[in-house]
Amino acid sequence: MNTEQADNLARAQERVSHGRQQEDGVIVIRTIAMPADTNPAGDIFGGWLMSQMDLAAGNMAGRVSNGRGATVAVEGMQFLRPVKVGDEVTIYATLIKVGRTSMRIHVDVWARPRFGQAAEKVTNAEFVFVALDESGAPRQISEI
Ligand SMILES: CC(C)(COP(=O)(O)OP(=O)(O)OC[C@H]1O[C@@H](n2cnc3c(N)ncnc32)[C@H](O)[C@@H]1OP(=O)(O)O)[C@@H](O)C(=O)NCCC(=O)NCCS
Repeated sequence: MNTEQADNLARAQERVSHGRQQEDGVIVIRTIAMPADTNPAGDIFGGWLMSQMDLAAGNMAGRVSNGRGATVAVEGMQFLRPVKVGDEVTIYATLIKVGRTSMRIHVDVWARPRFGQAAEKVTNAEFVFVALDESGAPRQISEI
């Protein structure tokens, strides 16, 4: 590889090395918004975003409680900006509180245009999950 090729590669690597879009939270899901996820107006359907957020929070809740759980509440859901087909969607989760059987998890969603570099926060909400035993009853979260 000559010097020019090495410089081009370094610049391209820098361009694609975008990672975190906010300092706090764990990146749980990064995915691409697809045409199948649109509403009748052609933007991404809010219900699809909510399901991705629920999946992300549920994944964190499962790791915290070492077992199954269920969403018992979703609070303060805000849709700040539309998400477009092709956007790279990144879901951050932050564990806010662990109770006797419940976990409160803040979720932020960022979107980056497919051919752009600047990502924006598009949605956030707080999810409450309850750890469940095999019969579906609340289970005490013992080992954290
Ligand atoms: C989850 C479920 C078993 C909880 O049953 P419950 O009788 O409400 O249980 P409890 O009253 O003991 O509450 C359990 C915990 O959840 C918390 N909680 C219950 N309802 C809540 C609400 N609306 N908001 C915030 N926290 C809530 C309680 O404070 C408690 O927390 P703690 O143990 O950490 O103090 C029951 O509500 C359920 O099965 N819901 C359906 C879950 C589901 O199907 N989710 C998917 C929806 S698509």
